[in-house]
Amino acid sequence: MNSGYTLLSGSVNSSTLYSDLIVESAINFELIDINKKRYYDLRSGLWNVSLGYDENLYSDVIRCFSDLLGRGIPYLDIQSYKNPLYEEVSKKLLDFVGIEDFKKVFFTNSGSESMELAIKIAQKSCGKNGKIVTFNDSYHGNFFGGMAVSGLDALINNDYSLLKNNIIYLPFPDNVEKCQYIIDYIEENYQDIMFFVMEPIIASGGLNFSNSNFFNKLLKILKERNIISIFDEVATGFYRTGNRFYLTNLEEKPDILCLSKSINNGITPLGAVLFSKEIERKLIRKDIEHFSTQNGNLLGMVSAKITIDYFIKYEKEIFYNVNLLEKSFNKIAVQYNLKYKSKGAMASIEINSPHLLNLIEELKNIGVLVYIYSDGRNNGITLFPILTMTAEKYASCVNIIFKKGLHYA
Ligand SMILES: Cc1ncc(COP(=O)(O)O)c(C=O)c1O
Repeated sequence: MNSGYTLLSGSVNSSTLYSDLIVESAINFELIDINKKRYYDLRSGLWNVSLGYDENLYSDVIRCFSDLLGRGIPYLDIQSYKNPLYEEVSKKLLDFVGIEDFKKVFFTNSGSESMELAIKIAQKSCGKNGKIVTFNDSYHGNFFGGMAVSGLDALINNDYSLLKNNIIYLPFPDNVEKCQYIIDYIEENYQDIMFFVMEPIIASGGLNFSNSNFFNKLLKILKERNIISIFDEVATGFYRTGNRFYLTNLEEKPDILCLSKSINNGITPLGAVLFSKEIERKLIRKDIEHFSTQNGNLLGMVSAKITIDYFIKYEKEIFYNVNLLEKSFNKIAVQYNLKYKSKGAMASIEINSPHLLNLIEELKNIGVLVYIYSDGRNNGITLFPILTMTAEKYASCVNIIFKKGLHYA
């Protein structure tokens, strides 16, 4: 148990996952503890340190942070003042996302706040009352709105009875029947639906995929039926799936996009909500309120600027490496009798054991850190390796995970 601070992911006396791991520093793909023991970080921080603990990236950040601190403005109130960084970073992010019709960005402090704002924007701009549709096993954050639309958190939401009667949880479209069921549901009920919140790949509840044809079809129907779409790429964004974003390869585009995590490699709290010109038009002359003291924090701005520049500069290498990581994982995974899923630099292995925490501890002891998932039916391990991790090192970790995992399954 922690002494002064508390974690409320479970109960007030929860401890950290790695209760005796005191991290002192990090370099490239590894965390280093106070005894100088090194651990491969197969979680990329909490899925946000996608470029790793990169000395070059961080020395650029130090230089820019020093400049801002030297000028006395690590913080500026974005509601009250102008600064060229706001324009520069929003333009850079909009260009990087590359949806022609998206011209506006709102800077938030996290994925949860992004979702909260996206829900407010959708509700304000849809111009009707009705239901909110989402997927059964999805996760969209821990604020009230995000929690309500997170199928994975439906039980917690039950306790708060929040928005409960307004949410429709549909099965994640991982087969033809479910895809059709969702499309039919929309066609039959579109008049009662305000907006649809979707995670293109279920990430927190162990991985689950659909396909881009389905998302193209869904986004098209939503548009035709005047239902607003909120696309949550907090986990899948910034090359995780092998593309810049999941939606990069879609022909149809959503109305609202939620980002966070890898947007600035986890350097400061930061997220963003981007939306279309049509949404912007619908919001004109509507009263909407959303602000938080730290929105647009300048250290967040400058770290996003440097991170996005890195992504652009090393894009070819990242594409190549993510592909190698995926291939290395799959090559090993097929050799073991365990259920797994993988896409780009994300993978999950189902290990339904009441002793899963012992496995996590065993892996930690040999220097491998992983993420643990539960969707209420199945448990297992999720891997989000650093995008630039060498495939050989990743493969040796994956091999150990499968070998040891087999004893627990
Ligand atoms: C898809 C998705 N949306 C939203 C969130 C919430 O983001 P945050 O933890 O930054 O509040 C997460 C976090 O894991 C996520 O995976």
